[in-house]
Amino acid sequence: MVEYHWSSEVEAAHHDSLLDLIEGAFAGEAREFFAEKPEASDLAAMFGGCAIGIFATAGDDLVAYARVMSDHCMCSWIAELCVHPDWRGKGIGRELVTRIRERFARTAIYINVPATDLDFIHKTGLLYKPKLVASGVRADPRLRTSSVPVPEGIRIVRDVSMLTAEAMEEVCESVGFTIRNVTAEEILVRCWQQEHIHSDLAFAGDRLVGLVRVFSDGVRSSWLSEICVHPDWQRKGVGTALLKSVRARFAHTALFTEAFAETLDFFRPIIPAAPGWLGCSLKSVRK
Ligand SMILES: CC(C)(COP(=O)(O)OP(=O)(O)OC[C@H]1O[C@@H](n2cnc3c(N)ncnc32)[C@H](O)[C@@H]1OP(=O)(O)O)[C@@H](O)C(=O)NCCC(=O)NCCS
Repeated sequence: MVEYHWSSEVEAAHHDSLLDLIEGAFAGEAREFFAEKPEASDLAAMFGGCAIGIFATAGDDLVAYARVMSDHCMCSWIAELCVHPDWRGKGIGRELVTRIRERFARTAIYINVPATDLDFIHKTGLLYKPKLVASGVRADPRLRTSSVPVPEGIRIVRDVSMLTAEAMEEVCESVGFTIRNVTAEEILVRCWQQEHIHSDLAFAGDRLVGLVRVFSDGVRSSWLSEICVHPDWQRKGVGTALLKSVRARFAHTALFTEAFAETLDFFRPIIPAAPGWLGCSLKSVRK
């Protein structure tokens, strides 16, 4: 019986093996998101900030790893999950997801998976949600400097100190993103004001009318967790301006989201649906 050692320290994994495994996690269809293997110099960022690694080793061998971006309060996103081809079929992938589910149980958990992995996902307890459409776009650093057109009278601000708990709560609740079991102040501090979680805010005068939140490792992957525009300001281009703003801001990384099926027309020009991928999630077990 092989004993696996589980760790969250990136040092637990031999770096060359880890780079190979990361590349292996994005074989086949996933190539469309990542043209290149990450560099060893990227690893500190990829497993730092809001991104947590979980590594399984057997002796010197790296057997599996997962990378999860989390605010530890509302949302977690599994950026990658990969078992080394020599170690597949032994229940390690399932155990990896079990560990993720235990560790991030207080948050909702999201993952985009190739449709070919659906059986595995169901065995782990994660659920395919047809209403969540896996969407993604590869890095295009040229867009980083592109100027973002903004509707007249609207300002896009990237300074999260401009966000108040009341304004955030008002806009979120106006579109049905209800805050439960925690105060708006707590959400502001824990979900919006963390160093590696980024927000772009849309103001009309002094009034907050829209906001978007992105988790990023700053080098390889970013994940849009929410975007919303107050109903009084919808269909005026505010949401598109926010989306273009985050696309430019994170143009040096791939950008992913799980779009609500009914908002696909909105996301499509910037973060199109990824054919062959499925959006899966699990609700938090917060009481
Ligand atoms: C989705 C949302 C952010 C769009 O913001 P917005 O400022 O209204 O978007 P824009 O004005 O930039 O829309 C640009 C285009 O996107 C499409 N679009 C916008 N909202 C849409 C919706 N709810 N359903 C379908 N298409 C939509 C339309 O093609 C629109 O062009 P049109 O006005 O010429 O028809 C906003 O409707 C919203 O806050 N919805 C509730 C929260 C939500 O569902 N967020 C997404 C998942 S996190």
